[in-house]
Amino acid sequence: MVLRVPAGRMVGRDDELGRLLTLLDDAEAGRSVAALVSGDAGVGKTRLVSEVTRLAEGRGFTVLSGQCAELGDSVPYLPLADALRGAAQSTGVRDALSSRPALSRLLPEGGDGQRADEDRSGLARQQMFGAVLGLLTELAAAAPVLLVLEDLHWADASTRDLVTFLSRMLHRERVALIGTYRTDDLHRRHPLRPVVAELLRLPSVIAVDLAPLAPSALAEHLTAALAEHLMAAAPNRIDAIELNDLVARAEGNAYYAEELLAAFVGGDPAERRALPAGLAALLLSRVERLSDTAQRVLRTAAVAGRRADDELVRAASGLAADEYEAAVREAVTHQLLVPDGTEGYVFRHALLREAVYGDLLPGERTRLHATMSSLLSEEQRLAVPGTAAELAQHCLASHDIPGAFAASMRAGGEAERLGAPAEAHRHYDEALALWERVAEPEKTAGMAHGKLGLLSAANAADSGDVERAVHLLRRLRQAIAAQAEQGEGPVDVILASRIGERLAFYLMTIDDYKAAAEAVEVAWATVEATPAEPPTWQYARTVATYANTLLIDDDFDAVREWAARGLDAARAAGAPWVQADALVTLGFVSNRSGRNDEAIELLTQAHKQAREAKVLGVELRAAYHLARAHLERGDLATGGVVAYEGTMRANQTGLGLAPYGTDVQHLHFQCHYADGKWDHAQEIADGFPVRVTSVPEAQLSSMALFIDIARGNPVAAERRAWIEPFLSAHGFDGFIARGLFAEHALWQGDIELALAEAQAAIDVTFEPPWGYHPSTIRPAVIALSARADLAIQARAAGDDESFRAELAAAGELLRVAREGAAFPKRPKFILGPEGRGWLARAEAEYRRASGDNDPQAWQAVLGEFGPDYVYEIARTRWRLAEALAEAGHRDEAAEQWRQAARTADRLAARPLRRALDDLARRARIGTAEQHGDSEVLAALTSREREVLRLIAAGRSNKEIASVLFIAPKTASVHVSNILGKLGAASRTEAAAIAHREGLVSQPSAR
Ligand SMILES: Nc1ncnc2c1ncn2[C@@H]1O[C@H](COP(=O)(O)OP(=O)(O)OP(=O)(O)O)[C@@H](O)[C@H]1O
Ligand SMILES: [Mg+2]
Repeated sequence: MVLRVPAGRMVGRDDELGRLLTLLDDAEAGRSVAALVSGDAGVGKTRLVSEVTRLAEGRGFTVLSGQCAELGDSVPYLPLADALRGAAQSTGVRDALSSRPALSRLLPEGGDGQRADEDRSGLARQQMFGAVLGLLTELAAAAPVLLVLEDLHWADASTRDLVTFLSRMLHRERVALIGTYRTDDLHRRHPLRPVVAELLRLPSVIAVDLAPLAPSALAEHLTAALAEHLMAAAPNRIDAIELNDLVARAEGNAYYAEELLAAFVGGDPAERRALPAGLAALLLSRVERLSDTAQRVLRTAAVAGRRADDELVRAASGLAADEYEAAVREAVTHQLLVPDGTEGYVFRHALLREAVYGDLLPGERTRLHATMSSLLSEEQRLAVPGTAAELAQHCLASHDIPGAFAASMRAGGEAERLGAPAEAHRHYDEALALWERVAEPEKTAGMAHGKLGLLSAANAADSGDVERAVHLLRRLRQAIAAQAEQGEGPVDVILASRIGERLAFYLMTIDDYKAAAEAVEVAWATVEATPAEPPTWQYARTVATYANTLLIDDDFDAVREWAARGLDAARAAGAPWVQADALVTLGFVSNRSGRNDEAIELLTQAHKQAREAKVLGVELRAAYHLARAHLERGDLATGGVVAYEGTMRANQTGLGLAPYGTDVQHLHFQCHYADGKWDHAQEIADGFPVRVTSVPEAQLSSMALFIDIARGNPVAAERRAWIEPFLSAHGFDGFIARGLFAEHALWQGDIELALAEAQAAIDVTFEPPWGYHPSTIRPAVIALSARADLAIQARAAGDDESFRAELAAAGELLRVAREGAAFPKRPKFILGPEGRGWLARAEAEYRRASGDNDPQAWQAVLGEFGPDYVYEIARTRWRLAEALAEAGHRDEAAEQWRQAARTADRLAARPLRRALDDLARRARIGTAEQHGDSEVLAALTSREREVLRLIAAGRSNKEIASVLFIAPKTASVHVSNILGKLGAASRTEAAAIAHREGLVSQPSAR
């Protein structure tokens, strides 16, 4: 099955397109110019140039476009002939050709069999060049001309000379010339090279080099191609991880990416990752041009990896030094290898390596890997970090299982020491997979199977993959149970206890009721199975974790009791970090019982103790709960400091995505988002990954949306595209992202979308059998705000039925928000200032919806948020100013407006600023930012422009009156004045003028 990629939107080439468009401007203004567009095969030269061609045609250019073909020198003027043939339909071109026999001979019907011969004579060539120049000049007199010559790397000598000739001879003609060529084909002695060098010395010639597309652009392109394709029913879907993998493999090459995608969605699932045959053949055709020794070096280098160490490849290739050097030089000249640093080479493109590697014969591959293994096992090589990991791969590929096992263990330890848990997990997992196939695994590994499993699981969790850790630990537990049952040797009870304890702990962090229930069960079974005497830290920790799991049932007495036992056991075993862990649980209970001061005291102590004991997992857990308790109390400064320290610790040790590692990071962000240090908050958010491929990353990216949406940053759209696949993922609480998507839609005036997104967010926060959470309040308020807008519109339009329906819906949302605030699941919960602020906002929005937009209600919102939540305060002042204006308190309204505008500007909160501008225009308070208006509109007063904007939005006089706080009579007077000034016969015509003059592209009144 073949994927046909639609000629969809062009992505990621704005700058290059911009440069080529200025070329068109120059040509139109009578300055002849040329551009040479270069880039690797498939990078997107043709796509870019076809975009320019399309735009040029739209601007009235005569476009001549021809292509060179791989036939090379055998057919002179091939691209020119191609261009003329393509354009000969147009009468202008046909006429111009008919008077130039030299040129019409290039056309099929004009051939007289003398072309090739004629070309050899210098005279014929001069005639030809003269004719082309004459033709272009004649055409350019009528309309500007764009001449495109594609794939000049294949051009014949005459065409190359013609390009030089035209670039030199054209000056004041309205002609633009664009040539394209492949950089990767242009080896050192390629005949186009000197031509390019010479042309680029001319002031009228520019070079546009197409770099690989940015990963985000490529991802966007593939997603678009896929969307098109999926409608035509593709057998396979693709998720974010797979998409990311494709993007990484394609390395910015649009063509490669499309080929990989086509193979992926259309191919046999077992071969999804294989290089598509067509692409492999294409890549290999470049290799086959090389000498045998050069090919041999490439094959060896392909086995070595993407980056090939010079000395290693030489040794493995078995070539003498001078032979080897000549071969490498050849590969470099042909642009297949590129020097990288002083001691190595990389393949020009990763897929090129894949192709060469895939082309190796099975025996050849095994032998080369074995050679690599023996070279890499030399101790001085092995001492270089990263070598053990490579060695493991080579051993595996050459069927040396014991070698692979030992190397994987070594690589795992190395990765752990470097704070790279994902890699450590991968290596340990590989060793686990080989365990059964090695003679004395315990001896080589220096540990038991269960211990290695535990280590692997812990590293998986540390890297953010808790699900994987849980899976591994469950299997280990089953294996131990089976071992006990069958009486196969003694069970190590302490090791079994650690496995059970970690399983329970990770299950708790998954945030899902079923997992939590399993956690309680596992923790309890582990407590029972672990001997209490003699005192051990393992027993103490099992008890502490059991106490932690009991939190899910809100049985605070039981939690306190077991946490206290955990404390005692930890003291007895001399394990202060386990004490700290139990203290965190106690602090958490205090917090949930509404005794936040006590909570902060306990958590502070726990935090200190964990830090002193240098046990990072516990420290992060303590830091998270402590920072959150400060934040809940509204002490953003202290919370921020604690979260910051936690973030630093997590990132330094590779635990940024571990449980509580992500949490401290987003709390750190939240503190600064709330306190208004937005440049700092933005820095933190910018550090959160955009192209997310795991749940913890998706969670961080969702956090970044707070600021990216509040500022209207374009990256929000990209974040959204990558987060979306996770919305249905297990363990991802999508309410934050969904709620923010709703806010985004509302800022953009898309009320329907805002309602749908907000409802989705509200739905995820509903937890049967208890009901809503405090986290429901915020999305409920967003939906309420949207309902209020709709209710106001309905009322203004006199549509009583819709008004009542909207108000009823708003009433229901208010109920939902109140229920969320009451938090039926945790009756002892006490709502912090942020929650109270949003709840008050729900009440105020409901008043607004009911037509009683009460300034007092908005004042109450300000009161609840307190002075700290800077952005929320500004947002509230915006609504307060509106309510005051409606009530006729203009001065007070203006004062609130000014304060809000000042904050919005300081925060660079553009959507809020636009909303304020809109209010300023409607209510005539404050000063809206001036938008440049066209001449036609200049005749209108600013008030009339507002009215016209609303006319264009299809509003009736009554609606206009309501939106602008004026009487309907006044609105109708404005309307007739506007029609008069614009010379428009009707509202429709006035609306058309508003659209044409760009008035309505400016944010309209909501
Ligand atoms: N910026 C882009 N946006 C969307 N699609 C693109 C972009 N660039 C390239 N493509 C797509 O990638 C494929 C290869 O691009 P294109 O044919 O333009 O490459 P090229 O550089 O002209 O290659 P060649 O050297 O082989 O002629 C095409 O399907 C094209 O539509
Ligand atoms: Mg092309």
